[in-house]
Amino acid sequence: MRTITLINGDGIGPEISDAVVKIIDASGLKINWDIQTAGADVIESEGTPLPGRVLDSVLKNGVALKAPVTTPIGKGFRSVNVQLRKELDLYANLRPCKNLPNVKTRFENVDIVVVRENTEDLYAGIERQVDENTAESIKLITREASERICKFAFDFAVKNNRKEVCVVTKANIMKLSDGLFLDSYRKVAEDYPQINKREILVDNLCMQLVQDPTRFDVLVLPNLYGDIVSDLTAGLIGGLGVAQGANIGEKCAVFEPVHGSAPDIKGQNKANPTALLLSAVEMLNYIGEKHYAQKIENALFKTLSGNIKTVDLGGNASTVEFTERIIKNL
Ligand code: NAI
Repeated sequence: MRTITLINGDGIGPEISDAVVKIIDASGLKINWDIQTAGADVIESEGTPLPGRVLDSVLKNGVALKAPVTTPIGKGFRSVNVQLRKELDLYANLRPCKNLPNVKTRFENVDIVVVRENTEDLYAGIERQVDENTAESIKLITREASERICKFAFDFAVKNNRKEVCVVTKANIMKLSDGLFLDSYRKVAEDYPQINKREILVDNLCMQLVQDPTRFDVLVLPNLYGDIVSDLTAGLIGGLGVAQGANIGEKCAVFEPVHGSAPDIKGQNKANPTALLLSAVEMLNYIGEKHYAQKIENALFKTLSGNIKTVDLGGNASTVEFTERIIKNL
C-alpha cells in the first residue's frame, strides 16, 4: 500500500481533508495516510510551525496532499506554506484553471495553466526596516531559478499538447530582475520550436484575462505575479473553492489548493472540498493511479452536473452532503 503524507492544515483544512480522504477511500484505492500537523497549533508543543518531521515525511514518501495552513498577517511566524516550498525546493507551482461542468461563470472554454516560480522573487522574505517610516523588500531573481521554471513550463506544454507558453513580467520597469526572467525565457524557448512564444506585461495580462481568457494557454510567471494571477484565473472558473494546485520539485511534490484556510467559514460545514479534491486527483495521476483519478473526477463532475453545489457556487449543500453525494456517484 502506498504511503502519502497528509498535512491536514487548519481553518477549513481538517474539514476538507476529511472529505477528500473519505472520497479516495470510497473509490477503492487504499492509501496509508501519514498525517502531519503544522502551523500555529504545533508551535507551543514543538517550538516551530513547521517541524522537521513534516519535511522528513514528505521527503520519505515523495508525495504529500496538503490542506491550507494559516499565516498571521503583518506579524508573527513566516508562512509555513512558503517555507515548505523553499525547504523542499518545490520550484514549480502548477495551477490549472479549466471550466467545470455546470459551474456557470462569465466565460466558457477557459483552459489556462499558470506555472508560477515558487522559490524566490519578493517571496524570499528578504525585508528590513530601514527606519521607523521606511521598510524595504528585496526582489530576488536568479537565472538558475528562472531558466528552471521556464523549462518546466515548456516541458509541461510539450507533454500535454499545449500550443503556447506566454511569459509574464513587468520588465519595462524592473529591467534587471524581471528583465533577467524574460531573458531566461527567451533562451529556454529556443529549444522548443514546436511551441508558440508570447511575451506580455502583467498589467496588460490582467486586463486581457478579464476581457477574454480564451486568448491564453500556458502562462509562466515569477512568484508574486503568479500568486496574484492564479487567484484571478480561479475567479474565472468559479472561485477559490474549485481552484487546484501542485508544488513540484526534483525530489518530491506537494499537492494543495490555491485557497487559504478561510477562517470566515471555519467549522461551519460550508467549505467546498472541490479544490483539494481536484488537487488530489492530480496527485493520483502523478503517482500513476490514473484509473482512480478518473473515477473520482467523474464522480465529482456527475455531482456538479446533478446540481449539488456548495454555498460558494450558489448551491446549498453542506461539505458533508456534497461529499456524500460524490461518494454515491463513484
Ligand atoms: P482564503 O483563500 O482563505 O479565503 C478567501 C475567500 O474565499 C474567503 O471568503 C473564503 O471563505 C473563501 N474560500 C476559500 N476557500 C474556500 C473553499 N474551499 N470553499 C468555500 N469558500 C472558500 O484567503 P484569505 O482569507 O486571504 O487567507 C486566510 C488564511 O489562509 C491566511 O492566513 C493566509 O495566509 C492563508 N493562506 C494559506 C494558503 C496555503 O495554505 N497554501 C494559501 C493562501 C492563503
